[in-house]
Amino acid sequence: MLTISDNDFKRLYTFIRENYGIDLSQKRQLIMGRLSNDIMAKGYPGFTEYVNDILTKATPSDIDGMLNRLTTNYTFFMREEEHFTFFRDTILPYLEQKKKDHVLSIWSAGCSTGQEPYTISMLLKEYFGGKGYWDTRILATDISQNALTAAQNAQYDEESLSRLPAAWKTRYFEHSRDTGLWTVKPSLQSNVIFKTFNLMDPIRFKLKFDVIFCRNVMIYFDQATKDSLVDRFYDATAPGGYLLIGHSESLNKTSTRYDYIMPATYRKQSGS
Ligand SMILES: C[S@@+](CC[C@H](N)C(=O)[O-])C[C@H]1O[C@@H](n2cnc3c(N)ncnc32)[C@H](O)[C@@H]1O
Repeated sequence: MLTISDNDFKRLYTFIRENYGIDLSQKRQLIMGRLSNDIMAKGYPGFTEYVNDILTKATPSDIDGMLNRLTTNYTFFMREEEHFTFFRDTILPYLEQKKKDHVLSIWSAGCSTGQEPYTISMLLKEYFGGKGYWDTRILATDISQNALTAAQNAQYDEESLSRLPAAWKTRYFEHSRDTGLWTVKPSLQSNVIFKTFNLMDPIRFKLKFDVIFCRNVMIYFDQATKDSLVDRFYDATAPGGYLLIGHSESLNKTSTRYDYIMPATYRKQSGS
């Protein structure tokens, strides 16, 4: 493994924090462990030359390669199930009453390899299945191209489906005897729109979101980056809409405009 000097480490983590929000200032070993092989394979003699290039003349694909290695994409179906129970029992009945146009707008921000938006999509199908026409598409975004490619391939192993109700496996997935993998059915896939999006960028999507899931993403951000993102999320939330964050995260109660509902669950007032 290559070692990184104090100066190169600082230059690299500052660049990543300023451009992508991810705070790796305490993750020296992770940076060395995840980037060394790639740096050597590309023919760089060491971190200094690599960091020089990243800071001055990196192509989008160089940056993608680095982000693919440095982002943590761990996720699973039905992760933090309390949210999905609240979504099914409280949020969806509220939206069903409120949305006279029958259009729901949901954002999985930091969707990783797709398990979160596909879980939401299954819940929507279950809820709205027999209730007439609802347009319930989900926008799912991430900064990691590898994660988004895996999400669009939509193939998962048996073990990763273990938390889903048994009947959903055959209702929403096709099983391949050859590979042993389960592929999300096209009807569910078409409900999710995947896009590359850096959460540091201005949010310019046309519709306001009824629910934003941004779970286990801001955990890697410093406080100022997090506060600024939550502020932008607020402006992108429809009145009465929700922001759901990871259960190990919390919002700055003094500065956020969202109301606290319960752990990891926040809401914009319906009149605002
Ligand atoms: C641990 S995963 C969380 C996945 C899912 N939300 C969950 O809770 O299981 C965090 C994701 O955030 C993404 N991410 C990190 N920084 C980001 C940024 N600046 N913009 C967009 N996505 C980002 C990572 O690529 C990663 O896929």
